[in-house]
Amino acid sequence: MMQIAILGFGVVGSGTAEVLTENKKLITAHCGEEVSVKYILDLREFPDHPLGDRVVHDINVILNDPEVVLVAEMMGGSHPAYEFTSAALKAGKHVVTSNKEVVANYGVELLTLARENHVRYLFEASVGGGIPIIRPMQTDLASNEIIAVSGILNGTTNFILTKMKNEGAEFADVLKQAQAMGYAEANPAADVEGLDAARKIVILAALAYGVLIDPKTIPTEGITKITGLHTATADKLGCAVKLIGHTERIDGKIYAAVSPYLVPASNPISHVDDVFNGILVDTNMLGRALFYGAGAGKLPTASAVVADIIDILSHRAEERKLPDWKNAAPADIADKADYICRRCYLIEGCPQCAAKAKAALGTEICEFVEDGKFAVVSREMSEKEATAALASIGLQAVFCLPVLD
Ligand code: HSE
Repeated sequence: MMQIAILGFGVVGSGTAEVLTENKKLITAHCGEEVSVKYILDLREFPDHPLGDRVVHDINVILNDPEVVLVAEMMGGSHPAYEFTSAALKAGKHVVTSNKEVVANYGVELLTLARENHVRYLFEASVGGGIPIIRPMQTDLASNEIIAVSGILNGTTNFILTKMKNEGAEFADVLKQAQAMGYAEANPAADVEGLDAARKIVILAALAYGVLIDPKTIPTEGITKITGLHTATADKLGCAVKLIGHTERIDGKIYAAVSPYLVPASNPISHVDDVFNGILVDTNMLGRALFYGAGAGKLPTASAVVADIIDILSHRAEERKLPDWKNAAPADIADKADYICRRCYLIEGCPQCAAKAKAALGTEICEFVEDGKFAVVSREMSEKEATAALASIGLQAVFCLPVLD
């Protein structure tokens, strides 16, 4: 019997206990021994839960118990999750987590601590919920250079954008539904302002390029300003509005950002709806790969946590390599102003203005969205260049969204 502890018995923590119970037979077969939850650390009591008698309130009970070989941290938030993770690694316990905030903020330090203490720190559930993406990037794509990663990385905002598009629903009402379904973060600002996706894209950038960027420093825009006009513009152009995390290497520097994009129907990401996530990885040998599945929710996310538990417990006798990231320095990070892509500009003006805008932005793609408002898609250029081109003919955009090709 192998003993583990669960830190945080919320949606994902209780889901992890459920997966361990429901799939006990196959998990035992994978690990070679039964996996038992000896402790659950939470501030609350769970008297009606079958594992209610395992609840403790003091992390030291877990740290000081030599029988506990692995800790699954699903507390959410940076503190005290970071301190408890550090302490567990120092105590020689493996740690698995779904906590992207901790991985994005302290990944370099925690991986180093894990290496020093000859244990592992795994975080498959931190990006894409239940979708396998972290391990495939480390193993199956290891023979490839990663050119770019672009993805719908937040289930809550994708759920909201899908409902706004299909049902004309109001932002606030759909957010409440997402919260009730257990998708949203405790503070939904992390979802709707793009911070959750920012944490996830810096983790993917670190896997791709070995450099962990502070998520607070990347250009981050959420969906709170998205309205029916954005959706109508997207429809007119045969696109969907999606919140995209994107990273790529530009002239040896790493670019990473989160923002709403227009995604053409020809891109499979545009059909990723509801709470699903879709992550496109562009590589130099395989080409483009799409990772798709449930990006949030209790059992999907817990299934990824348990996959990490199985990985560790079934290879306990071996010392396995962990990613060797370094923290990004300013010189590693590409400037947003230099980012070149096609962009859609919604502009107020007459048909003559539209013709001038097309010429200035070097494109033929232009549609009237509603009376006196047209959408024009630029050729590939920087935002600075496009804004200057429009200003030179006296036009100013109502909004601008990048296009994900
Ligand atoms: N709040 C997150 C989301 C949970 O909606 O994607 C999964 O990371």
